[in-house]
Amino acid sequence: MNTNTNALTHPAAPLLGRTALVTGGSRGIGAAVALRLAREGADVALTFVNGKDAAADIVRAVEALGRRAVALRADSADPKEAEGAVERAALALGGGPDVLVNNAGLGLLGPLETLTAADVDRLLAVNVRGVFLASRAAAARMTEGGRIITVGSCMTQRVPGPGGTLYAMSKSALAGLTKALARELGPRGITANIVHPGPIDTDMNPADGPFAAGQAALTALGRFGTADEVASTVAHLAQATYVTGAEFAVDGGHAA
Ligand SMILES: NC(=O)c1ccc[n+]([C@@H]2O[C@H](COP(=O)([O-])OP(=O)(O)OC[C@H]3O[C@@H](n4cnc5c(N)ncnc54)[C@H](OP(=O)(O)O)[C@@H]3O)[C@@H](O)[C@H]2O)c1
Repeated sequence: MNTNTNALTHPAAPLLGRTALVTGGSRGIGAAVALRLAREGADVALTFVNGKDAAADIVRAVEALGRRAVALRADSADPKEAEGAVERAALALGGGPDVLVNNAGLGLLGPLETLTAADVDRLLAVNVRGVFLASRAAAARMTEGGRIITVGSCMTQRVPGPGGTLYAMSKSALAGLTKALARELGPRGITANIVHPGPIDTDMNPADGPFAAGQAALTALGRFGTADEVASTVAHLAQATYVTGAEFAVDGGHAA
């Protein structure tokens, strides 16, 4: 019996006919993921908050690949918007999403004594609550073969220095959520996995920033990664049929 649910897909465009929602897809890792999924055949919805023009550029780039795309302003910090983006994406793309990529996240670092209760609420709202709500909404719509892929952080595996309490806490919550989602959704043929990037050259963490050299030195490869290098693992997980509840370091050996 053939149990490969991708067996009938087009080899050059394995995600053809599938729809994806990428949160925070206007820049950085999310933009690279949106483009990579489109290159592999998916129609793509992406969310943004401030980067309307940047989001429109990604939509045009996806359309240039022959796929459909839509940019949705949806702040993951707002529960209604985080959840509502899933239905808006489905309406715009005519179904799905078959693939949810929980990418939107804030990088709020700082000494323990400087982090306020408001900081905790804000970071958890975007990095954790928004992911939970989008995953729940997507799971409700997904059919067999659905894929939930979350962007965590290498700081769930190894915290290399001070300042990461809040951020590491938020991303570690996502690792637990992913495993629990895998268990709950597995019987329906839906997978949930998490990717842990190391230092990736984006606006959030530029490779020429003040702390960049130290971060690069902590990796086995001695360099920052690119958003495309993360996107390739996300795209793999969008197709993988027997991988769920798993954590993937895309960190240049940061955790080695
Ligand atoms: N870069 C790294 O070194 C690194 C390492 C580990 C993990 N990560 C994780 O990877 C993910 C992407 O990071 P990145 O480096 O690509 O970040 P980035 O360059 O700052 O881009 C963030 C993206 O998320 C969107 N966004 C921000 N806040 C949002 C919100 N409240 N609701 C919806 N969208 C929002 C932004 O949209 P607008 O521009 O429209 O605001 C933008 O598209 C994050 O979860 C981050 O924690 C990054």
